[in-house]
Amino acid sequence: MGSIEDLVAPQIKSMKFTDIWSISLSIANYADSVYLSAGEPDFDTPSNIVKAGEDALKSGKTHYVDPSGLPELREEISKKLKRENSIDADPDEIIVTVGGQEALYNIFQTFVRSGDKVLLITPTYPLYLDATQITGAVAKQVPLTEQDHSFSLDIEKVKQRIKGARIVIINNPSNPTGYVMTQDEIRALVEVAKDEGALIVSDEIYEKMNYSGKKLISPASIAPENTITINGFSKAFAMTGWRIGYMAAPREVIEPLKIVHHTNVICANSISQYAALEALRGPKDSLRAMVEEYRQRMELLYGGLAKLPGINVVRPDGAIYVFPDFSDYEKDDKAFALRLARSTHVATVPGSGFGMGGEGHLRLTFASSRRSITDAVARISDYLTSVASKIPE
Ligand SMILES: Cc1ncc(COP(=O)(O)O)c(C=O)c1O
Repeated sequence: MGSIEDLVAPQIKSMKFTDIWSISLSIANYADSVYLSAGEPDFDTPSNIVKAGEDALKSGKTHYVDPSGLPELREEISKKLKRENSIDADPDEIIVTVGGQEALYNIFQTFVRSGDKVLLITPTYPLYLDATQITGAVAKQVPLTEQDHSFSLDIEKVKQRIKGARIVIINNPSNPTGYVMTQDEIRALVEVAKDEGALIVSDEIYEKMNYSGKKLISPASIAPENTITINGFSKAFAMTGWRIGYMAAPREVIEPLKIVHHTNVICANSISQYAALEALRGPKDSLRAMVEEYRQRMELLYGGLAKLPGINVVRPDGAIYVFPDFSDYEKDDKAFALRLARSTHVATVPGSGFGMGGEGHLRLTFASSRRSITDAVARISDYLTSVASKIPE
């Protein structure tokens, strides 16, 4: 037998584990570490949702459920999609998944073949890039234009790169930029994808975190026939560990996805499904309070970074991230993030892992306490002052 390494598929061999954890681990032993790295709400799951999970557990709801998800949960999701997103999806056009992440992998397994093209607007959620690579597909990246402290999408660049793409992934609001696309940008993107005959995958996981006043528009409300909408409970309801999400798509798109989903996981966790049902049916005041707190933390983090010299930072419209450009200090974002972590004990995520346009940036999350954010900004400021002499005039 050859070595185990030889058995690993070639497209996996060249992959490495995410920098999110490696930078955080590098400061794990310090008492004063501040983690602005993981994309994880620091709030606990609201108590009414936890109780629904407990009740399900205690009343023996511990069996497999309908592979597509509890009918009553799909019914609630269907109503939510109609009410909030103008998406018409019958309950049997919805699959409850193990987080939005499982939905994403099901889509790749179902629709993407080795050598296919996947169009991504970058900087983007790294796991889209990873899923593309694991599938043996090719990422066609279209970086957002970053100019005058704002982002925008150049649709001409999309037209140049979309040729032959099988899927187009839209993540709005975006991880890591916090950018919310304008309605015109979404409409143009949907039009171009339709002309190309590509499926649109719309990842709307951060939809509740929109501080910009820009109206969010779901691609499935414009092009229902070729759009798959992914959403979930992780971010909106602080339920990351429950691993519960969903996707919705028209019948001929969702049917093959049901087969793949069933093959992968049989069904999503039954307890989490009852908890998710309560999330949709129960009071929403804790959700609103969370979003308001995020808004204030965003102002604190963005405002603090914007005052630092030599940094270009765009005010985030949404999500839970700020994505400043530190390249005047150091072009190698990974080396910079590591040095920053070692010197200040503040963990961030290097931008290049988010694809084209991410180089020279760091991602910082404001899903952390105000105190941690204030502390982190002060330390980063001191660090930059100490290395400022290196900046060319
Ligand atoms: C853009 C985006 N999509 C999907 C996910 C995965 O979410 P879930 O916890 O629902 O699997 C994340 C998690 O960070 C994300 O940032």
